[in-house]
Amino acid sequence: MTTVVTPSTLTEPKFSLGSKHLARILDLTGGEVRSIIALAERLRTQGYAPWSHAMSGRAMALVFEKASLRTRVSFEVGFQRLGGSVIYLDQQNSPLGVRETLADFGHNMERFVDCLVARVMKHSVIEGLCESMHVPVINALCDRHHPCQALADFQTLLALQPDPARIHLAWVGDGNNVCHSLMECAAALGSRITVVTPKGLEPDAAITAKAQGRAMRTGATITLSNDLDAIAGVTAVYADVWVSMGETDGEAKRAALEPFQVNDRLMAIAGPQARFMHCLPAKRGQEVTDSVMDSPASIVFDQAENRMHAQASLLLHLLAPTATH
Ligand code: CP
Ligand code: NVA
Repeated sequence: MTTVVTPSTLTEPKFSLGSKHLARILDLTGGEVRSIIALAERLRTQGYAPWSHAMSGRAMALVFEKASLRTRVSFEVGFQRLGGSVIYLDQQNSPLGVRETLADFGHNMERFVDCLVARVMKHSVIEGLCESMHVPVINALCDRHHPCQALADFQTLLALQPDPARIHLAWVGDGNNVCHSLMECAAALGSRITVVTPKGLEPDAAITAKAQGRAMRTGATITLSNDLDAIAGVTAVYADVWVSMGETDGEAKRAALEPFQVNDRLMAIAGPQARFMHCLPAKRGQEVTDSVMDSPASIVFDQAENRMHAQASLLLHLLAPTATH
């Protein structure tokens, strides 16, 4: 990444999250989101040296029921750069709650580690871990939310446009977990998000209503549309895979989503100012063409890099709040 910006809106007072969990973005106040992103920008632009011992003597466990590249590597490397040690529990062949109850798993793990990062099939598993554990639990993606992705993505957007009120993000595709977290993050920060989906693939109504409730208090705007012309003039167009991990209705979804491919024609509707974003991994030729992924408008690898900084900042806020000042 080359842009070095210290957004004026990010010089907020610092927050201590204590031993909070992060199940979804709405668990955080707007001030906490801004503080996490501000420190993430400091880590990105100034490096990790001032915090290289912050997690000395601390351990973090990752338990993943689904595949991962970015989330696993960025959490592991980020925590190691802060001086901590990491253990990865591969649960893909032995899901949580099978060998022993979820609560018993949690009661064991909290005796060993200072933080648990979990990627799970069902949001209810994240909720169960949060209920049974006294050390922070971080949702590293479930069927409903992907909060760490949204923190990194808004860090990326704020480096381009420091005023959150002037950010207008367009989501194009399936109203899925990443979409939900981006709506919640836009709501927390007072940004604008337009979610364009085929009919029937809109984001979850209850999650949308909650985000809209927060948006009313922050000045954010959340708009749902089935019309691709709604993306004109946005800061960035965001795509994700048409079929998320663990989903079984792939064929029907792919057919409905074909007109929603982000290609040169769609980016022309968005306008020349529009960047392209994707949480990755991308299915090139499906939700996005090579021409868009590889264009100068694409900031997908900045997003990927910021996963590490946003999560390292989150961990500092959770486990070493005095180090965030
Ligand atoms: N974006 C993201 O979460 O990537 P992984 O699935 O590779 O972790
Ligand atoms: N919506 C995608 C995101 C992957 C990072 C999935 O859940 O598979």
